[in-house]
Amino acid sequence: MKNNRRDFLKIAGLAGLSLTAANTLYAQTVVDEQDFNNLPKRIEKYQKRHQQHFNMSGYAAPKIDTVRIGIIGTGNRGSHHAGTISRVSDVEIKAASDVLPERFEKIKKTLEETDHRPEFYSGSDEAWKEMCERSDLDLILITTPTFMHAKMAVYAMEQGKHVITEVPAAVTIDECWELVKTSEHTKKHCMMMENYSFMPFQMTTLNMAKQGFFGEIVHGDGAYNTSKMGNNFSKSLYSDMWWLRMYGSRRGNIYPTHGMGPIAQMMNVNRGDRLDFMVSVESKDFMMKEKAKELAKDDPFFEEFAKMAYRGNMSSMLIKTKQGRTLNIQHDATSPSPHNLIHGVYGTKGSVLFDPAPHRISTGNHKWADKKTHDELMEKFKPGLLHKFEDFRRGLGADIKSGHGGSDLINVWHIIDCLRSGLPLDQDVYDAAALSAVVELSEWSVLNNSSSIKVPDFTAGAWKTNKPNMDINLENGSGTTTVLS
Ligand SMILES: NC(=O)c1ccc[n+]([C@@H]2O[C@H](COP(=O)([O-])OP(=O)(O)OC[C@H]3O[C@@H](n4cnc5c(N)ncnc54)[C@H](O)[C@@H]3O)[C@@H](O)[C@H]2O)c1
Repeated sequence: MKNNRRDFLKIAGLAGLSLTAANTLYAQTVVDEQDFNNLPKRIEKYQKRHQQHFNMSGYAAPKIDTVRIGIIGTGNRGSHHAGTISRVSDVEIKAASDVLPERFEKIKKTLEETDHRPEFYSGSDEAWKEMCERSDLDLILITTPTFMHAKMAVYAMEQGKHVITEVPAAVTIDECWELVKTSEHTKKHCMMMENYSFMPFQMTTLNMAKQGFFGEIVHGDGAYNTSKMGNNFSKSLYSDMWWLRMYGSRRGNIYPTHGMGPIAQMMNVNRGDRLDFMVSVESKDFMMKEKAKELAKDDPFFEEFAKMAYRGNMSSMLIKTKQGRTLNIQHDATSPSPHNLIHGVYGTKGSVLFDPAPHRISTGNHKWADKKTHDELMEKFKPGLLHKFEDFRRGLGADIKSGHGGSDLINVWHIIDCLRSGLPLDQDVYDAAALSAVVELSEWSVLNNSSSIKVPDFTAGAWKTNKPNMDINLENGSGTTTVLS
């Protein structure tokens, strides 16, 4: 079997000369090649041994009056989140950490006109640990490169902090198990912020699923197809070119959760159903190596990238659930096609399709409904969370703008409100693990001629009785947390 893991270790070593803290953690996520080849056996062995310590599904932690937050990673997403969090009442951004102190400029600017004055931690690639050890923090937000999330989350939970992390929460199966074990033992939340599940159409279709609109859901198509070629080759956008290094060292779906998350919620994954097995296939790389070679002709900076063998441009995964449903999940962030999340969900009585626009709904009569019927159904199934935001808008007398189709603020507001009210969070550590596990599973499948591989049951059987907990209708109630702007 040919893969890039050994090559990557060399690359990481080389890059280490020029910087970089990031690579220390990066290299640690690349599991031993022998272990990787034995992944199906390892999963089976671990699964047999594993017993759930405490069921975190539906877990409600003690109420927190004001949620005191520390952020690890103040790059693009960390700074953006800081701005979003500052628009929610009853929170305090008390601390932030980044290995590159120059990355504090953006977050400082974002928070300039707010009352938030975080204390900054830098100076080493482990300064974030010192921040997590503070006794006056309740919640750690992780917005570092994907391959660092799990280690940081585990450490933060061990220090008694709840964790919310950017996507995916982990990039290896071992990391997924560590997250589950630590969350269960510490009784700390570990929620992956799968924000696309909070987009208005996606939440409305989840509500439709909850109300039985689809009958039995049979199949879902999801994707994160969006061109990031320019971003990935930018010398300044992502710290230490981490996305390009991911493409140059891994195979399979390295960014699966936006396509999968909303559909997994609709299928009650980990709560009545669960992911059973999957296969993955990917195209050749037709673009990235060419681009790196082209750039390297004039710029020696790109020489190391011209030597890499890149993940194929289009990654596809087919997943079967225990209850017999199927998911088809794509990831293509290189080809210059229009942005496409697909979000096509097909049931025995109805179906929906988000992309390409316009969004469509079918009531099961072989046709997409006309605009009037579509709009009436969207209104009828509008979930409580969207009604709540309409109340906020009326209260403010202004439109509420937020990133990713409005999802970022709704996601953050509901996390804060649930923590303040002592309510379960919308997504738990089992979601984080199941949706992130496919990163390594898809890689294994691609490198084994698309053979099938079992998805671990991170709930250890509890999925059969766990209750749905994405409370989009605020059935558990809501607290006094408001939106400030
Ligand atoms: N959910 C979404 O819609 C969405 C959108 C964009 C990015 N993301 C996710 O957000 C995360 C961050 O992406 P980004 O675009 O902000 O990348 P980025 O490179 O801009 O930011 C990452 C930051 O982490 C810092 N960092 C690296 N090592 C560190 C260490 N040891 N200690 C402290 N800080 C460290 C870097 O210096 C950098 O500032 C990724 O996981 C990505 O997948 C999610």
